[in-house]
Amino acid sequence: MDIEKVNSMDFGEFVDVFGNVVERCPLIAAAVRSQCLFSDLEDLEQHFFAFTDALPQSGQEGVLRCHPDLAGRELQRGELSAESQREQSAAGLTSLGAAERLWLAELNAQYRARFGFPFMPAARLSDRAAVPRELARRLHCPPAQELSTALGEVKKIGRRRLADLLGSHAAEP
Ligand code: GUN
Repeated sequence: MDIEKVNSMDFGEFVDVFGNVVERCPLIAAAVRSQCLFSDLEDLEQHFFAFTDALPQSGQEGVLRCHPDLAGRELQRGELSAESQREQSAAGLTSLGAAERLWLAELNAQYRARFGFPFMPAARLSDRAAVPRELARRLHCPPAQELSTALGEVKKIGRRRLADLLGSHAAEP
């Protein structure tokens, strides 16, 4: 898909296609579409990120809370979005053994209790051994720093989701 195609979409189609660039936040796609036409993928990306950056802290935390826990209840129930399923699968989190799953669930619970939102790695960049290690490390970070780290991860995730939709390799690490 090229940027001309994106610019030609009507509002409904745009929200259908880009509604999960930020997990379960179609409102962000709706706001982005209401603003303007886009010059290229990077410009489109910047509009998504500028919206999240401009939210008050409560809104930013709300965006984070829209994400499912890694290897959590939604995965067990088959309720993940296609994008989250793909990312968690690529990191090996959909095939954890019972002991690994329990360990991650315990860490996820500690993280949520401390920060009020789920642990957010750019899961496609990680793997099943790195995720709990990174979670355990970030559990000790100051809350303001962790909010900023988590929002940075949401951007990495969004960048890759957008690149997938536009068939671009621009977001490859
Ligand atoms: N990293 C990449 N995708 C996801 C997701 O769906 N949830 C969380 N918590 N982290 C992610």
